[in-house]
Amino acid sequence: MSRTVSASAPGKVILFGEHAVVYGRPAIAVPVPARQATVTVRAGDDGLTIHATNLDCVLTVSPDNAEDPLAVAVINTLRHLDAGFEHDLSVQVKSTIPIGSGFGSSAAVSAALIQAIGRYFDAELTPADVSRLVYETEVLYHGTPSGIDNTVVAYAEPTYFVRQQIMDRFDVGRPMHLVIADTGRMTPTRETVGDVRAGWQRDPETYAVVFDAIGEIVDAARAAIAEGDLVEVGRLMDENHLCLRQLDVSSDELDYLVCAARAAGAMGAKMSGGGRGGNIVAIALPWAVKDVVEAVRAAGAVAVIETVV
Ligand code: MEV
Repeated sequence: MSRTVSASAPGKVILFGEHAVVYGRPAIAVPVPARQATVTVRAGDDGLTIHATNLDCVLTVSPDNAEDPLAVAVINTLRHLDAGFEHDLSVQVKSTIPIGSGFGSSAAVSAALIQAIGRYFDAELTPADVSRLVYETEVLYHGTPSGIDNTVVAYAEPTYFVRQQIMDRFDVGRPMHLVIADTGRMTPTRETVGDVRAGWQRDPETYAVVFDAIGEIVDAARAAIAEGDLVEVGRLMDENHLCLRQLDVSSDELDYLVCAARAAGAMGAKMSGGGRGGNIVAIALPWAVKDVVEAVRAAGAVAVIETVV
């Protein structure tokens, strides 16, 4: 085979429910098409190599060096396809998704990689196949991922998610204009997920109260989104941010960006993803978006993305 194939997967942002989703409560997340991971596969001449320019990584894949999550993604996909491991393939990974910022960069890179390898071997993998294969690599990054990141990037659709139970598209009654602002601080999801786990093990009752409160916010948010009640969506984002502060996964930088967005007219704002760094997400009416973008930039955001769901 001498052809070239490629595949892409979007970044994602969690609108409601991060952390509590690891403990069986629901969460809502949406793809961010403005940020993409793209993988190209072509015939090579020296075994199976992955060049990930943005990640500053070149590696040779074989079943014996399956420690790197990207290598594991390739090996598991070849196994799923029953395609054997002896291939001369050059795999190029490019991504515009910031790493360690709550955008699901690792899941998106794995999803694009798995889909591209599938295409090279003439198999159009279903989103369910891609999601499952991505989950196997997310375990290596995160330890105990809920599965929301792999689900959203594999299906590339707004998703209401409950671990191992529900994966639903949700209705959007009125377009939601979102501003996503990056603190520039990278904090591994593994770290904050591990800290929440340690806290929950020390005091399960108190943590369960906060997780339940988040679960109720998520279900109320799903209804408000379907009704197009954007004021209520914003209010629920504010409430969700308070719960995340109670779990101690926010930070001064995140709180500062959240306050700046609200003061500039956002209807609500919260941190998004693992926390202690990464992004906030704010909801604003279309004519307020520009003011919110300017305010979060002035408050120190290193990158700002606008998206409409
Ligand atoms: C990470 O994007 C979201 C968390 O809820 C972890 C997870 O769901 O696996 C913090």
